[in-house]
Amino acid sequence: MRTVYVNGEYLPENEAKISIFDRGFLMADGVYEVTSVLDGKLIDFAGHAARLARSLDALDMPHPTVMPELIDIHRALVRMNGIEEGMIYLQITRGAPGDRDFAFPDPETTTPTVVLFTQNKPGLAASPAAQKGIRVISIADQRWARRDIKTVQLLYPSMGKMMAKAAGVDDAWMVEDGMVTEGTSNNAYIVKGNTIITRHLGSEILHGITRAAVLRFAREAQMQVEERSFSIAEAQGADEAFITSASTFVMPVVEVDGVAVGAGVPGALARRLREIYLEESRKVAV
Ligand code: PDD
Repeated sequence: MRTVYVNGEYLPENEAKISIFDRGFLMADGVYEVTSVLDGKLIDFAGHAARLARSLDALDMPHPTVMPELIDIHRALVRMNGIEEGMIYLQITRGAPGDRDFAFPDPETTTPTVVLFTQNKPGLAASPAAQKGIRVISIADQRWARRDIKTVQLLYPSMGKMMAKAAGVDDAWMVEDGMVTEGTSNNAYIVKGNTIITRHLGSEILHGITRAAVLRFAREAQMQVEERSFSIAEAQGADEAFITSASTFVMPVVEVDGVAVGAGVPGALARRLREIYLEESRKVAV
């Protein structure tokens, strides 16, 4: 049984409890982060911590007093649960004011709820999916307009994953005004020659922590990077495609809406970027 963290306590998962009045539960009034673990160490922790602070600020949510200790809590959970490869999920909500009300509660009397738990995923880095590549379909992007805030309102992304499942593929890319925004839980890329194309940052997409690292490594490896939007037709005509996220790292995409991308197998550039990302991130993991 997992040991999880809830509001200052380490507990067996079946003893951890949250109020029915928690605003995360009633209003999706919460933010989250997913940090991957390789070799028992945290990947890109500083980036996730910085984005967490940004998400809290964007929603006027108080920073919990435990904020400076989050890295120690992450490490304690990794140790207690014996995680070599996997993920740590962290969620902060505006807390439980003791009733349902649309207005934000007084931060003096209602303090944030803080929950963390581990997900053990042996073989995460050596994922067979990375050898084969994944297939995606396109769906309309019907999420709210502040996708740069990492909130727990994940109903539409969940529906997107179900649409992909119903279509017999692995995931979905969302499209708005004819252009791809991002994957249901990842950032989307195409490759033409030596150039990587991925949507520019804005409120239309989540500013992926893996995206930032991968683009930095790509530039260091003399690959060209163009931050601009692209259409599904352009993706279908590209040489390669891939996604990035904390849980998939760099994952090749081999088919978009039933059309093979390039040769229909993971591309050389995506495979190389995955290797570079894993190697470099492991070196600086904490
Ligand atoms: N998802 N875009 C969306 C919509 C996401 O949900 C995620 C991450 C990303 C990639 O961000 P990062 O590289 O910081 O993981 C992009 C996480 C993994 C999840 O919801 O499980």
